[in-house]
Amino acid sequence: MSKATGEIKRVTTHVIQAMKDRGEKIAMLTAYDFSMARILDDAGIDILLVGDSASNVMAGHETTLPITLDQMIYHAQSVVRAVHRAMVVVDMPFGSYQSNSEIALSSAIRIMKESGAHAVKLEGGAEVEDCIKRILLAGIPVMGHLGLTPQSIYKFGTYTVRAKEDVEAQKLRDDARLLEEIGCFALVLEKIPAQLTKEVSSAIAIPTIGIGAGKHADGQVLVTHDMLGITKDFKPRFLRRYAELFDVMTDATQRYIADVKAKDFPNDSEQY
Ligand code: KIV
Repeated sequence: MSKATGEIKRVTTHVIQAMKDRGEKIAMLTAYDFSMARILDDAGIDILLVGDSASNVMAGHETTLPITLDQMIYHAQSVVRAVHRAMVVVDMPFGSYQSNSEIALSSAIRIMKESGAHAVKLEGGAEVEDCIKRILLAGIPVMGHLGLTPQSIYKFGTYTVRAKEDVEAQKLRDDARLLEEIGCFALVLEKIPAQLTKEVSSAIAIPTIGIGAGKHADGQVLVTHDMLGITKDFKPRFLRRYAELFDVMTDATQRYIADVKAKDFPNDSEQY
């Protein structure tokens, strides 16, 4: 990117692949609204994920299951309007692709057409192979997602580390290869052992992007609200907080309230 000349090279699937090929790590964060997306894009983030974690951090649901396709498109539209450089990937929400490949394709087309995003992400391996193939055939780039897949939380029963046992680890290896073979451009690995991430990341040519998956992934993703310390009580081992915005925002809000109550705000220079 050359901000001085005003030329901004957009991040595409090819740019992402080239990063892996030359050993440059890929930085991805979530975004759900215009203002946050503008900050993250200006800061130089490579990929913005309009994650279905919006269901948790924006809407306050306990899981990602309730968010709808219309709501995801609304969030994606706001993010796309803000972005000049980053690639925007949108999560396909629970229920928008699992039934069959036709439904999956029409959901993906709605996301691309109505939001202007650049790719979709969906959870699962062999069980969603047909859906992914159908979406790819329409020319829509797909990011896979294996390991802890939060849309299946009621099947797993817990948010603990996945693929620690041999059978599940082998399924993950097979699914990763399958997703690469059918044409996914990248793959999120969530909450799996670092050693398995290392193995998978060197076995497949497409980039892996880890969350709670250790240092060997080709890129990293965090939920922005967790990374910035806006969500106060979520502190898993894998999360590094780069700010404590909950405290900063609480302090600012309390000072504002105090100033209003004290008739200090607005003062003479803050009125017309
Ligand atoms: O929805 C989301 O934020 C995600 C990331 C955690 C990868 O899927």
